[in-house]
Amino acid sequence: MSSAIINGKEIGQEIRNSVAERVARLKEQGLTPGLAVVLVGDNQASATYVRNKQKSCEAIGMYSELIKLAEETTQEELLAQIELLNNREDIHGILVQLPLPKHIDEDTVIATIDVEKDVDGFSPVSVGKMMLGQETFLPCTPFGVMKLLEYSGIDISGKHAVIVGRSHIVGKPMGQLLLQKDATVTYTHSRTPDLPSFTKQADLLIVAIGRAKFITKEHVKEGAVVIDVGMNRDENNKLCGDVNYSEVDGIASHITPVPGGVGPMTITMLLFNTVQAAENKLASKVKQ
Ligand code: GUN
Repeated sequence: MSSAIINGKEIGQEIRNSVAERVARLKEQGLTPGLAVVLVGDNQASATYVRNKQKSCEAIGMYSELIKLAEETTQEELLAQIELLNNREDIHGILVQLPLPKHIDEDTVIATIDVEKDVDGFSPVSVGKMMLGQETFLPCTPFGVMKLLEYSGIDISGKHAVIVGRSHIVGKPMGQLLLQKDATVTYTHSRTPDLPSFTKQADLLIVAIGRAKFITKEHVKEGAVVIDVGMNRDENNKLCGDVNYSEVDGIASHITPVPGGVGPMTITMLLFNTVQAAENKLASKVKQ
């Protein structure tokens, strides 16, 4: 029997509809949520991601502004730009598209974003709050995975979650969010010896290692839930994940396809965080 498909396109759309309603309510109160996206340099992939983020904002009635800066922009100029955005009343979320050109220190740039506007959830303060389980913006991809599990009715408490990949953006925060829902979490990565001995124990296998079709049937326990965060091109230039879908299909109880699984959730949660930032702003005004 085939594995049940976790449909990120459908779940993402359902969440976007509810975010659109929240946007409409804010607009009735005279506030249009605004997202600023800062793009430095000419990375084509980044330009495409940014365009998609902007289109998605507009589709639900949010304001979005692209700040496009030349490759040669200095770190000081970029920091000054972020300070301007930090102080703008009409901008509730700020996203600096990564990677940045090599002469700019990403950590310094991200730490400059006002934590109230850090809708990517990448700043050290946001990450620290997340670790402590305090209210903050959660990084969009792992937050999206949590929503996929929630909407699919998958229990996390007491389950053994194995994470493959330890990036700041996905793997590390993913483990924390699952731990907060009472999973037992194992982190694995490219230097883990005998990876299948770990992944075979997973009730919940989250793969974010960035290698096409890396996870095969040898890695997966019968009945596991498999979440594929990868986005790669295969030998025929076709989009594929980090999981060899055709091999794992039928072994896993549930699986996310690529495309149409985790992918649509990242932008969805960016919209979710931005509307939340705008609501927080309105609530703080009412209190004053
Ligand atoms: N580059 C690749 N993914 C992301 C992301 O989620 N946020 C930002 N800011 N840059 C990225």
